[in-house]
Amino acid sequence: MTALLDDPLDAAALLRAGALVAFATETVYGLGADARNPSAVAAIFEAKGRPHFNPLICHFPNAESAWAEVRPDDRAVALAAAFWPGPLTLVLPRRADCRIDLLAGAGLDTLAVRVPDHAGALALLRAAATPIAAPSANRSGRVSPTSLAHVMAELGGRIAAVLDGGDCAIGLESTVLDLAGGGAALLRPGGVPMEAIEAVIGHVGRPLPLHAGQAPTLRSPGMMLSHYAPSLPLRLNATHVTGDEALLAFGPALPGAARVFQLSETLDLREAAARLFAGLRALDEAGLRGIAAMPVPGEGLGPAIRDRLTRAAGPRK
Ligand code: TXA
Ligand code: MG
Repeated sequence: MTALLDDPLDAAALLRAGALVAFATETVYGLGADARNPSAVAAIFEAKGRPHFNPLICHFPNAESAWAEVRPDDRAVALAAAFWPGPLTLVLPRRADCRIDLLAGAGLDTLAVRVPDHAGALALLRAAATPIAAPSANRSGRVSPTSLAHVMAELGGRIAAVLDGGDCAIGLESTVLDLAGGGAALLRPGGVPMEAIEAVIGHVGRPLPLHAGQAPTLRSPGMMLSHYAPSLPLRLNATHVTGDEALLAFGPALPGAARVFQLSETLDLREAAARLFAGLRALDEAGLRGIAAMPVPGEGLGPAIRDRLTRAAGPRK
């Protein structure tokens, strides 16, 4: 059962407890979770049936709270002053002490942040007192919902609640602008027109390579995921492990590894998804020969976990 809520305080209480709550923004309805709660964030991917761990946008009640998690430069500060609250998402470097779950950012060292221009969404963000990670509240591969009825058709029965915020004023997603790494590149055209953005910060690449030696297409998140490979080689579908390897375990651990990180002792794919990026980081230790990953099944969040592991094991530069 998916509850229909009118009061942002009720929605905030559910979010704080780790539940998924859809809510209206001025662009589209978002499928929200507490961005600091790893299993709540993992549940977003599961509810959407999202095949890949695409990074999510984190929503904040104001710019100051966003700047606590990412490092803005002068352009970001100017754009926030001009367009927040509003349909502009900025991709910026995560702070070292950023408290947003790694899976929410797909393991990248950047984070997409935005302050929505919707009274209900802002009341929810203030009451929840935690950043809210939210992709559009549709099943993967379908059109974004702009009304309560759309959300119920997409996700009714799969999520705890929907906070009724009426029909979305913008009805198309936010503009996503990448300011990490010194350049400026449009990643997704959206609610704020480019001319308005360029009036504030000057020319914006469409798109522009941001890092030396990196092709423009690598800025697309699906490709960028391969960016987050551990420095140790990763061996997939391991059925044995040697004493100079670290083990990424799923279920009862294979014996003999130098180190073990358990994704889920009980074979819970949601728990495994929530722990995946943290596990790859934890095992990526100099001095070992490599990381051996135990097999993960192909249903539920399994394909998304496999996708990330396959990328992490892929060809290296
Ligand atoms: O209007 C919107 O932006 C809506 C409402 C709910 O806020 N949200 C939304 O989320 O459209 P989603 O997940 O459907 O789209 C987020 C986009 C994706 O294209 C994703 O790849 C990109 O933002 N993105 C998120 N984090 C990123 C990052 N760190 N680097 C590059 N792209 C990122
Ligand atoms: Mg979407």
